Amino acid sequence: MAISDRENIPQKDSNPTKAKGGLEGIVAATTALSKVEGTAGRLIYQGYNIHDLARTTTFEEIAHLLWFGHLPNQQELANLHTRLAAERTIPNSVMQTIQALPPKTEPMDALRTAVSAWGATDITGKPTIDQAMALTARFPLFLAAFHRLRHGQELLESQPELGHAANYLYLLTGKTPKVEHVKGLNSYLVLLADHGMNASTFTARIVASTESDIASAVVAAIGALKGPLHGGAPSKVQDMLNEIGTVDKAEPWLRAEVKQGGRVMGFGHRVYKTEDPRAEELREMARVADPQGFVLARRVEELALAILEEAKPGRRLYTNVEFYSAALMGSVGLPGDLFTPTFAVSRCAGWTAHILEQANNNRLIRPEADYTGPMDRHFVALDKR
Ligand SMILES: CC(C)(COP(=O)(O)OP(=O)(O)OC[C@H]1O[C@@H](n2cnc3c(N)ncnc32)[C@H](O)[C@@H]1OP(=O)(O)O)[C@@H](O)C(=O)NCCC(=O)NCCS
Repeated sequence: MAISDRENIPQKDSNPTKAKGGLEGIVAATTALSKVEGTAGRLIYQGYNIHDLARTTTFEEIAHLLWFGHLPNQQELANLHTRLAAERTIPNSVMQTIQALPPKTEPMDALRTAVSAWGATDITGKPTIDQAMALTARFPLFLAAFHRLRHGQELLESQPELGHAANYLYLLTGKTPKVEHVKGLNSYLVLLADHGMNASTFTARIVASTESDIASAVVAAIGALKGPLHGGAPSKVQDMLNEIGTVDKAEPWLRAEVKQGGRVMGFGHRVYKTEDPRAEELREMARVADPQGFVLARRVEELALAILEEAKPGRRLYTNVEFYSAALMGSVGLPGDLFTPTFAVSRCAGWTAHILEQANNNRLIRPEADYTGPMDRHFVALDKR
């Protein structure tokens, strides 16, 4: 068929629908893992309200809930502890990869690289729960190894009797962590473990839907989490609070930021049209963990909400999970550039649970695009252009 004939064929509209910016409101998957109720401000993990889990469960219980569909009994929890403790090793090839990273590497990049190197250690085939546990157990090790190496410190052996949160703090600092720090970090890990079809989880499910391996799906998820509109916000919240410095400087700083169209980190959410229930929990934890720092954070929060409302009346923005995440993680002694990687330590449980859920009832995720490029162009060969 000649080009001119083809151009005369009426164009069939293969994209009858318009794209929805940011896929807002689009239901993209079926999941039994967690439910985000944006208007009610509720977060549910497998039927349990996050407020009932936040301060009473351990990260390991939540990982069990997400992987196996029920909260563990004591024996099941003991078995999971043993299992995760047994997985606390770094394969040689992964360690060599971490050692080869320049010390100035961003910890999120180091984590993504370490998980990718782990994926090269014969992690193939359909994702399994064993792989999910192995990877979740190793996240703190990869990060702590990188963190200590970049500061020229000796690497430490995991302590089998310590839980996930405590062992992570121990591996970073070499000190027996304070009970209140372990409690604070554990609650943070519980609160952040899963959150519906957020950007990184969706990314992980897309990769899993191609029948790729678990490591590839998690590497992609880490890449998505890193961005400031998703998991990259808490260190920016800390930077903002540090820059503001004192209560009296909060108002002029925020007014200038909003006036020049900047986004105030830690506010706004795609799904929540009221306060993020995790922010409510974290606010209280931050208040207890660091009463002095809390005074500034609380004042900045109040002013930011008022100034954002004033800038555009009726467009309600609320405090999101990242605002007090920064305060809480700072109070347990984590440096700012480990905030987002620590989010990943928690979310690894959710990602891997979603990858397993996707793999066990899979259909390739392959949406369409609303094409807005030119049509009916006349092709001219290279030597004639
Ligand atoms: C989380 C976030 C990406 C959600 O974005 P979204 O659902 O795509 O909403 P939009 O980007 O369309 O924003 C809607 C409006 O609110 C404004 N807005 C949203 N969050 C804002 C913030 N934190 N500061 C100032 N303005 C904000 C946008 O500029 C936009 O204004 P417009 O209608 O005048 O154009 C967004 O609120 C944000 O960037 N927050 C700051 C970063 C952050 O805290 N990320 C962690 C998320 S848990």
